[in-house]
Amino acid sequence: MTFPLPPNSTIGIVGGGQLGRMSVLAAARLGYRCQILTPEEDSPAGQVAWGVTLGDYEHPATLREFAASVDVVTFEFENVSVEGLNLLASLKPVRPAPAVLRVSQDRIVEKSFLRDAGVPTARWRRVGLMSELEAACVEIGFPAVLKTTRLGYDGKGQAILLGPQDLASAFATLYPKPLILEEFIDFACEISVIVARGSDGQVTAFDAVENRHRDHILDVTLAPAQISEAAAIEARGIALSVAGALDLIGVLAVEMFVDAGGRVLANEIAPRPHNSGHWTIDACPASQFELHIRAIAGLTLPAATRHSDAVMKNLVGPEEAALWPRVLATPGLIPHLYGKLEARPGRKMGHFTRLFPRGALPGEFGIQAALDIL
Ligand SMILES: Nc1ncnc2c1ncn2[C@@H]1O[C@H](COP(=O)(O)OP(=O)(O)O)[C@@H](O)[C@H]1O
Ligand SMILES: [Mg+2]
Repeated sequence: MTFPLPPNSTIGIVGGGQLGRMSVLAAARLGYRCQILTPEEDSPAGQVAWGVTLGDYEHPATLREFAASVDVVTFEFENVSVEGLNLLASLKPVRPAPAVLRVSQDRIVEKSFLRDAGVPTARWRRVGLMSELEAACVEIGFPAVLKTTRLGYDGKGQAILLGPQDLASAFATLYPKPLILEEFIDFACEISVIVARGSDGQVTAFDAVENRHRDHILDVTLAPAQISEAAAIEARGIALSVAGALDLIGVLAVEMFVDAGGRVLANEIAPRPHNSGHWTIDACPASQFELHIRAIAGLTLPAATRHSDAVMKNLVGPEEAALWPRVLATPGLIPHLYGKLEARPGRKMGHFTRLFPRGALPGEFGIQAALDIL
């Protein structure tokens, strides 16, 4: 396959969720077809795609069939096994490269990579045995966060340790999975930066945004983050250097903490479009999804700039899904629904965006008012 991909080429997306759905819509606008690999019969991405390969992410025959039907492979779901990734990469160009996914799949590999790239993080220790947890708590202190190294999302596979009394039960709950103990950061706010990098090394990053979680699930994103200019510059710089150090092709989100002193610490990286970048669909000339598709297709990257400031609100679970008619009826809210049939608790069903003139994101009061249909 030659890059840039000509129009009507087929982009293979591993994963059938809403990130895939919004990637498909962006790809369609650039004249590309998408083939989705998912085990889910009626998936958010599959509903809007050119084709679906239905089957397991780990099944070699399924991966072969999928690869045969596409020109390039990318991901909206990152937890494909090393063998699966290697098989795909032996058949078609895989962007971002399997090595990039391997970094984000394991918190210890991830934190070690960040350290080697000169990016500050919370202090951490590898934990395998109870005795190692005890030793790590002496070094890290309390409070601390114990996490599984793999397959965590939306705060799953984590326990906060407030003191020695919490060790045994937290360890029992998470063991025998490999674990990492992290210093608890008493953050002033959580932010993220989405960066895009092309195959020629061209790189561009959106401004940092602020992310507010509820029950460990992203609730609201404010673009831009209301942080000091120094912290905003530091955050963008971290994202740009991470993308370069990974030799990334595609987009990547870096989740970060800003502490009370304005210090920026990286927490996680996600080598794909990210929930904290959904606002870019409505507030930017080229969204995170368009930048991702452009990067993996070998097209030039426009700058990651916004024409508007924005507030994005996720619609999570049955209660917020039930607000849909009100979202539609409220002037100024830009609605997005993901096509999921069942609104289970904690499930991301859709989101809406509200735009403000650039530089005119309101204060706390106005943000509450903007969300006040709830
Ligand atoms: N070291 C930490 N200090 C303080 N809060 C943390 C720490 N690690 C995680 N958290 C909180 O838990 C949330 C989820 O943790 P994260 O590491 O992003 O895992 P995931 O998103 O994969 O579930 C973070 O967004 C943050 O609010
Ligand atoms: Mg996270």
